[in-house]
This record gives sequence, structure tokens and C-alpha cells, in this order.
Amino acid sequence: MIGTYTSPVLTPDYPIMTERLLLRPFTSGDLDAVNAYESRPDVTRYLYWEPRDRDTSAAFLDKKTTRSALHDEGDVLDLAVTLRDTGDLIGNCLLIWTSREHRQGELGYILHPDHHGHGYAPEASRAMLRLGFAGLGLHRIVGRLDARNTASARVLEKLGMRREATLIDSEFVKGAWASEAIYAILETEWTP
Ligand SMILES: CC(C)(COP(=O)(O)OP(=O)(O)OC[C@H]1O[C@@H](n2cnc3c(N)ncnc32)[C@H](O)[C@@H]1OP(=O)(O)O)[C@@H](O)C(=O)NCCC(=O)NCCS
Repeated sequence: MIGTYTSPVLTPDYPIMTERLLLRPFTSGDLDAVNAYESRPDVTRYLYWEPRDRDTSAAFLDKKTTRSALHDEGDVLDLAVTLRDTGDLIGNCLLIWTSREHRQGELGYILHPDHHGHGYAPEASRAMLRLGFAGLGLHRIVGRLDARNTASARVLEKLGMRREATLIDSEFVKGAWASEAIYAILETEWTP
């Protein structure tokens, strides 16, 4: 692919099915389910933002509903994670196209705490890695997290990602210094 790389966009076919999950674009009808997890301090603890009230979640949901394809670097694919069995929306997963020239991307995920511990984040993320590598032709995908976020680190380890760095006190977040961990996986290391 190197040298002949021309892949211009990623427009996935929806829904994306995994063993237990269905990933799909957000709709305005998802507000209650989204606010149910975005409003929780235990969810936002290691994120850049504070718990969101309903109006704030609604404003962000407006943006999420448009994030169903990657047309250029800087674009974000932001998909609802739902359970195939019940249709319940339990969180979201992200793929950010961070560089066209360098074929780089970044993963993200947030789940409602009622559904933590079942391996859903790794399951959704495997589908996002496939979109990034097989769909968009990325060379490297990273995960960035607060170094105290051991649950998120476990997710990235389960995906076969390598801890490449811990940046000590690299950011001032929510009134305190925070260290950032960076994980990564290359296209050549990824198992489809
Ligand atoms: C990070 C997160 C998405 C993990 O999702 P998940 O589907 O629970 O992931 P897993 O089931 O693979 O569990 C990963 C680790 O979380 C921890 N964990 C599991 N169940 C847990 C629970 N009920 N409560 C707290 N942590 C738990 C364990 O360390 C687990 O690792 P293990 O399987 O080796 O024991 C989830 O914790 C979350 O949404 N956190 C809040 C948002 C966030 O921090 N997102 C990441 C930003 S970088």
C-alpha cells in the first residue's frame, strides 16, 4: 500500500455487527441513553470533561449524529455501542483520523458502568481497528489515556497494543497535573 496509498474516505456499511454488539450512527432519539452515562462522575473521572447535564449531552449528540464517516484527517467516527440481544445503547466508540499524510488514527470508548467488565469495550474496539486498518488503510492507531485509568489500559492491552510512553505530568486537567499513557499498534502487528 505504501506509495500507492489513495484511500480518500471511510463510509462504513451499518450496522456493524460483532459477536454481541451492534455499532451504528447515533440518532437524536439516543439522548436518554447517552445522558445516562455522560452524566456520571465515575464515567468522566479520567476524561477531559465534567459530567454533562441533559442539555449539554443534547448539544454533543447533535454533533455525534453527523460523525458516521471519515472524509479527511481530523474527522471522527463516533458510533453508538448497542447490545444485539436487547438493543440497549450502552456507550460509544470512536475512531479519529489524526493524520492523512502519516496514516495515523486514534481509538476511544466510553461505556455505562452497568455494562463494565464484560469485555464490550475490547469487542467494539476490535471492530474500530478493522475499520481503521482494513477500511481506511491506516498504518498506526494509538490510544491515549490518563495513566491512572487502569481499566482503559487493560482494554488496549487486550487489543494487543503496546505501551509506548508515559508522559509525566504532561497535562493540567480538572485542577491537577495528570500523566498521559500512550498505547499503539501498527497495521503489521494487527490480527484481523
Ligand atoms: C475503560 C472502559 C471503557 C472499559 O470497558 P469494559 O467493557 O469494562 O472493558 P473490559 O470488560 O475489557 O474490562 C477492562 C478492565 O476494566 C476493569 N473492570 C472490569 N470490571 C469493572 C468494574 N465493574 N468496575 C471497574 N472496573 C472494572 C478491569 O481491570 C478489567 O480488566 P480485566 O478484564 O483484566 O479484569 C470502561 O471502564 C469505561 O467506560 N470507563 C469510563 C470512560 C473511560 O475512562 N473511557 C476511556 C477513556 S481513555
